[in-house]
Amino acid sequence: MSVNDIVRTAVSRHTALPAFNIPYLPMMAPIVHALRDEKCVGLITVARLEWVKFQARSIEAIAKEFEKVGDPEFTHLHLDHVPVIDEDGLRVDFVADISRALDAGYDSVMVDGSRLPLEENIAETRLICELAHKYGAAVEGELGAVMGHEAGPTPPYEELFASGRGFTNPDEAARFVRETNVDWLSVAVGSIHGAISAATRNEKKVEARLNIQHLEMLRAATSVPLVLHGGTGIRKDYVMRAIRHGIAKVNIATATRQPYERLIADSSIKAQDAVYRAAVTVIRDDLELQGSASLLRETHGEVK
Ligand code: 13P
Repeated sequence: MSVNDIVRTAVSRHTALPAFNIPYLPMMAPIVHALRDEKCVGLITVARLEWVKFQARSIEAIAKEFEKVGDPEFTHLHLDHVPVIDEDGLRVDFVADISRALDAGYDSVMVDGSRLPLEENIAETRLICELAHKYGAAVEGELGAVMGHEAGPTPPYEELFASGRGFTNPDEAARFVRETNVDWLSVAVGSIHGAISAATRNEKKVEARLNIQHLEMLRAATSVPLVLHGGTGIRKDYVMRAIRHGIAKVNIATATRQPYERLIADSSIKAQDAVYRAAVTVIRDDLELQGSASLLRETHGEVK
């Protein structure tokens, strides 16, 4: 079963896949263990900023580590945010990065054109779909503004949430999906990314909420699985409702990165152990995805 089939099945089963970011290579093994122990299918993922600003090292280094510690039964390799314009406002050679990931065997890739005007986002996302689909890889695009990665202060959360500023527009989402042929769509409905600038990356995230009515409109307007970024620290009742309303992939970075960074100077074993425990908490308590593997397989009549 391809990762695209699994994510589509998740929508029909009202469940989701967690996608865990790997900003430091030694975080991968404990996260894979957590997924296996909890019998949960998930994605192991790296974003461009994690090899530029953290220590993921490279697209190929992550692929090599995945070959070593990944578990084909429970894990798939995904390339997270490769932005066309990055969080510092600079243009990225996104086609080169995504091509490298496809050559290295990633199962799915994300092109993030969300800082572009709609027409350009459509054009660049369509280009990546044409490229990636030849490899049999799924493509995630983004429309709307999930803030938090940018340097400098983010507007106060309550103001953002109340105004709906940056939320994905349903009509635009319908057009985006139709014209790009994208497989999954990352939407903005109230979540924000954990801060990653050196000055703020240790801060506790605000407890985000989600506009479920808006999510419903997006689901009605589109035919593809929807993705929730900024998955750390969203109020649980909201995230559980989102999973019942079309969210099939939830991205998690801060919840596992911060415990690792807190302990790594002390001991790598303790830091990896903390990552394991944080991942188990996300899977079991925050998202209630313990045992989701059997739910995803049952649908296809494969009994394990
Ligand atoms: P958090 O840091 O809030 O978990 O967000 C992760 C994310 O969305 C990565 O793409």
